[in-house]
Amino acid sequence: MIPADDPRSIAAAVACLADGGIVALPTETVYGLGADATNGEAVARIFEAKGRPRFNPLIAHVSDLDMARRLAVFDPLALRLADRFWPGPLTLVLPALDGSPVHVLASAGLPTIALRMPRGVMGSIAAALGAPIAAPSANRSGRVSPTTASHVEASLGSAVDLVLDGGPASVGLESTIIKPLDGRLHLLRAGGLDPAEIEAATGLAVIRTPPGPAVEAPGQLVSHYAPSGSVRLEARHVDPGEALVTFAGRRIEGDEAAAEIHDLSPAGNLREAAARLFAVLAELDRPDIARIAVVAIPREGLGEAINDRLTRAAAPRGL
Ligand code: TXA
Ligand code: MG
Repeated sequence: MIPADDPRSIAAAVACLADGGIVALPTETVYGLGADATNGEAVARIFEAKGRPRFNPLIAHVSDLDMARRLAVFDPLALRLADRFWPGPLTLVLPALDGSPVHVLASAGLPTIALRMPRGVMGSIAAALGAPIAAPSANRSGRVSPTTASHVEASLGSAVDLVLDGGPASVGLESTIIKPLDGRLHLLRAGGLDPAEIEAATGLAVIRTPPGPAVEAPGQLVSHYAPSGSVRLEARHVDPGEALVTFAGRRIEGDEAAAEIHDLSPAGNLREAAARLFAVLAELDRPDIARIAVVAIPREGLGEAINDRLTRAAAPRGL
C-alpha cells in the first residue's frame, strides 16, 4: 500500500498498468480495481482477482472529455451531463463509438459503454497511461464495495499488484448510472449522485425504469451475445462441417473435418482464453457457420466465467 498523493505512486501505478498489471485506486465513490481497458489480458486479470463468476461489463474511467469522446457518442444531453457532473459520481451509458479501443472483454460485447470521469488520482493516471482504465469496485465478488485502502487489502490482498491509499472515499457509494436515450434519462443504478440534482440541472425527469431489459441486464439474458449458429458444449468429437473451439491445443475425434478450428489459448492459459473468447464467438457469428462444437474448458479460476458465457451462447434462443 502506497500513498496516492505522491507523484512516485502515480508513476508506479502508470508503469504497472502499462505493463498489464492491476492496481487498486481510490475514487470519490469507492475504490476501483483498475486495468488498462484496451488490454484484454489485463482486464481478464480483474475478473480473476475478483473471483467474478461472469464477465459483467465494466465502467471505463477517463481523464477528460476528449478521451471520453474517443470511446462513445455524446449527444447534446450527454454532453450537458458530463459538463455539469464530471468529474464526479455519475456514470453515463452511451453508444460505443465504432473503432473504440476499449477491449471487448471490458464492454462485454455490448453496443453501449459505461463511462465515468472520477475525482482523484485515477483521472491523472488514465491521462499518463494514455488509455481509459476499466475498473469495477475493488472487492471480491459478492462482498461490499471498499471505501478504504485497508478494505481493499482485506478483500483482495495479494491478488492486486499495487494499492494506492487515498484515504476514505468521500462519497462512499458507487456512482449513479444514467442512460440518456432519445432525450430521456433512465436510471440504471442509484448511487452517490442524487437524481434530484440531475433533474434540477437538466429540467428532465429521471425515469426509474430501464429502457429495455435486453441491454440493461447484460449477461442476464440467457442467450446474450450468442453466435447465429448452434453451440454444443463439452464436445468430444466434431461432426463434419462443424466449427471447433478448443483449448490448450486439445485435439478431438473428427477435428480434421472441422470447418475451422479456433484455440482459445494454445498455451492453456485461462487469462488468454478469457481475453479471446468474445472475439472468437464474434468471428464464428457468420451465416456459413451453422454449428459450433466447444471442448470442455477447465472450471477453475476464470474458467467459471468462461463457462458461464459459453453456456449462455449455447442456450436455446429467444429466452
Ligand atoms: O462508483 C463506481 O461506479 C465504481 C468506481 C470504481 O468507479 N465502480 C463500480 O463498478 O461500481 P462495478 O463494476 O462494480 O459496477 C458497474 C456497473 C455494473 O452493474 C454493470 O452491469 C454496469 O455498471 N454497466 C457497465 N457497462 C454497462 C452498459 N454498457 N450498460 C448497462 N450497464 C452497464
Ligand atoms: Mg461492484
